[in-house]
Formats: sequence, C-alpha cells, structure tokens
Amino acid sequence: MSVDIWDWLTPQEQLPQHIAIVMDGNGRWAQQRSLPRTMGHREGAKAVRRIVQACSEHGIAVLTLFAFSSENWRRPQWEVEVLMRLFLTTLRGEIRRLDAANVRLRFIGDRGAFSEILQDHIAQAEQRTAANTGLTLVIAANYGGRWDIAQAGRRIADEVKAGRLQPGDVTTDLVHRYTCLSDLPEPDLLIRTGGEQRISNFLLWQMAYTELYFTDCLWPDYDVGDLESACAVFASRQRRFGQTADQIARNAHA
Ligand code: FPP
Repeated sequence: MSVDIWDWLTPQEQLPQHIAIVMDGNGRWAQQRSLPRTMGHREGAKAVRRIVQACSEHGIAVLTLFAFSSENWRRPQWEVEVLMRLFLTTLRGEIRRLDAANVRLRFIGDRGAFSEILQDHIAQAEQRTAANTGLTLVIAANYGGRWDIAQAGRRIADEVKAGRLQPGDVTTDLVHRYTCLSDLPEPDLLIRTGGEQRISNFLLWQMAYTELYFTDCLWPDYDVGDLESACAVFASRQRRFGQTADQIARNAHA
C-alpha cells in the first residue's frame, strides 16, 4: 500500500531535495515474462517518464538516474546497442515534453564514448533546457563514481602543474568543486530497485551522507506510490551528519 505523503509533507522541509535512483531489474522483469531483456529496458523507459513527471510535479529539485554505468559496456553487444538506440529515441521523443514541463536536463559521465549523433542530441537537449527552472533531471550515462573522482584529480593535477593551485590547496571542498554535480545539492535519498543492496560505483563522492533505500520492486514496475513510500521512509529518518541525536533535537528547537 502506498502512503500518500505529498499532501501532508512540506516539500522544502521533509521531502528529499535530490533523489538518486539505481534503476535495476529491467532484465529480470523481462525474463519473468519470457521476453528478451531489452523489452525490460523499454518498459523501464516508461517508468522513467512516470517518475520524472512525479518529481517534477511535486517540487523535487534534482533527480539523478543511473542509466548506463562505465561497466555496462561489458554487457552483450546487442544489449548495449539496444540501450544506445533507446537513449536516442527517448531523448528525441521526450525533449519537447521535458522542456514544456520546465525540466532542466543534464548528463554526467564520459560521453565521448557515445556515437556522434547521441552526443549531438545530448548537447542540444542540455542547451535547449539550460534556462529551465523546474526539476533538474540528471542522466548518468557512461558514468562511474571512480571515474568522477579520477577526472577531478586529473583536472586538479593540471591546475597544480600550471601553477594555478598549490598542493596545499587540495582540500575536500576543492575536490568537491571538481566532481560532477558540485553546483547541485548532494543526493538526500538513494533508491535502488531490483532487490540488490549495493552502490555499484554510482555517486561515490556525492553520497557520503545520503540515506539509502532498497526495494525488491523491479524498475519497470516502479510507480509513483513506490516513490511516495520511499519518501515517507526518508521523512522518518533522523539525519545526523556526524552530530549526536541530542544535538539534532536541540537545534530543531532552537
Ligand atoms: C539495470 O537493469 C538497468 C540498466 C542498465 C539500464 C537502465 C535503462 C533504462 C531504465 C532505460 C531508459 C533510461 C533512460 C534514461 C531513457 P538490469 O538490466 O541490470 O536488470 P537485471 O538486474 O534484472 O538484469
């Protein structure tokens, strides 16, 4: 049963500002129905549309979806090809609707490995929606958390080599500024569907204080009620960021 929390929570105070999702279980959803795995990805794209719309309508500031990890290239070639085609057709088919809904689209990851046409559509979609002020939808594609930290390190090393930074300038705050999403709030809530309980090289740097929520629901079945349930669990958690429960309670009453 889903909990309808949208009506009674104050979005700014109780809802996660930034939700990150590992959309797992597409393949199993299809296999359970004796369908090719790729049918699960197609159904998964429909779940993406439902969840983006819900986040957009309910004032979530940022939604980051793990669409393709740097390790997903290891899948059978035909499955990778279908996924690439699906990204392109979804982008083509949805961009107008996303723009009209005031959604700002961003991609993180090493996009250089994608076909030129996909890279062009990504760049155009980002450009077209750059000034939108509603939901920021981040698609992590050919993304890996270790890649992200490594690219930050490489760029910082270049700055040190050029004399624009000193080794002593390298603090956690500085490293943060060179990682992806540094201009956005860190994820408050990570949802992983599909029953596995792991991070799988997602936003390793950014998830230091993220609340984790795992569900057995397979991604193509994931709906707005499931999202509401996850948000209700999030709202019931006490986040302490290294402080004690007493300190948090005192600050709340101050
Ligand atoms: C993981 O399920 C899912 C993926 C690697 C692909 C996610 C892609 C989509 C949901 C398609 C549409 C996305 C966008 C952003 C348009 P899995 O295949 O590992 O499932 P399994 O664990 O059951 O095999």
